[in-house]
Amino acid sequence: MLSDAWIGELFDDGVWTASCPVTEVENDLFPEERLLISRAVAKRRREFAAGRRCARGILAQLGHPGLPLLRNDDRTPRWPEELVGSISHCAALCVVAVAHRSSLAALGVDVEPDAALEPALWRRICTPAEIERVLGTAPAAERGRIARLVFSAKEATYKAVHPLVGRSFGLQDVEIAIDWEAGRFTPRLDDTISGRLPDRGVPAGRFTRRGGFLFTAATLAATRTA
Ligand SMILES: CC(C)(COP(=O)(O)OP(=O)(O)OC[C@H]1O[C@@H](n2cnc3c(N)ncnc32)[C@H](O)[C@@H]1OP(=O)(O)O)[C@@H](O)C(=O)NCCC(=O)NCCS
Repeated sequence: MLSDAWIGELFDDGVWTASCPVTEVENDLFPEERLLISRAVAKRRREFAAGRRCARGILAQLGHPGLPLLRNDDRTPRWPEELVGSISHCAALCVVAVAHRSSLAALGVDVEPDAALEPALWRRICTPAEIERVLGTAPAAERGRIARLVFSAKEATYKAVHPLVGRSFGLQDVEIAIDWEAGRFTPRLDDTISGRLPDRGVPAGRFTRRGGFLFTAATLAATRTA
């Protein structure tokens, strides 16, 4: 089992994190939360329950014990006003990260199995420039896992940025530059998206691989007012 202390290392101070396995258990939801997935298939109910379980522990630490985590019309979790947060689940693992809005304007996380993506998907995920500069310069045997990293980095970026920009965008609207030594990535967003971010801010990305999982996180610092 992955320790939350390790996941926390992917963020600066001031971000609360939790992880838990996605299990059969889904009967620990609040009634209001259960209603949100009453018509969902079993897999979806399990992952939703894991996310709420992780979130509940963090919310209790941050002064909101017993608060059901409902959802907004855009399907984002409805965090208390003063918080930003993000949830991700793959088949086996769920991760949640939450921060005070006074320190982060945006936060997105993504967890994936650390496994190669099949080549047929690479061109849907990567821009032509990414195919050339990121995949093209890597050893052939590594390209599938790198394509997965690019995908995960874009998902984490989307989760951070979408609530702020208020519009959907696609995989080809973001380009990822990877700093392998630092375990960091920088998402370059199409001007029509970045122009809607506070101070045209650029999200900061981090990634790591542990226990058979790939984990990415994107954050945008809060704007400081003088
Ligand atoms: C939001 C989205 C990125 C989720 O990714 P996913 O890999 O399918 O699933 P994950 O388990 O990682 O994340 C799901 C969680 O994301 C959160 N979420 C859902 N919509 C969201 C949004 N618009 N913005 C931020 N977070 C969102 C929810 O908390 C959800 O879990 P929950 O319903 O149990 O609370 C994806 O479903 C989506 O809407 N994509 C459309 C746009 C897209 O793919 N753009 C390309 C990226 S640049």
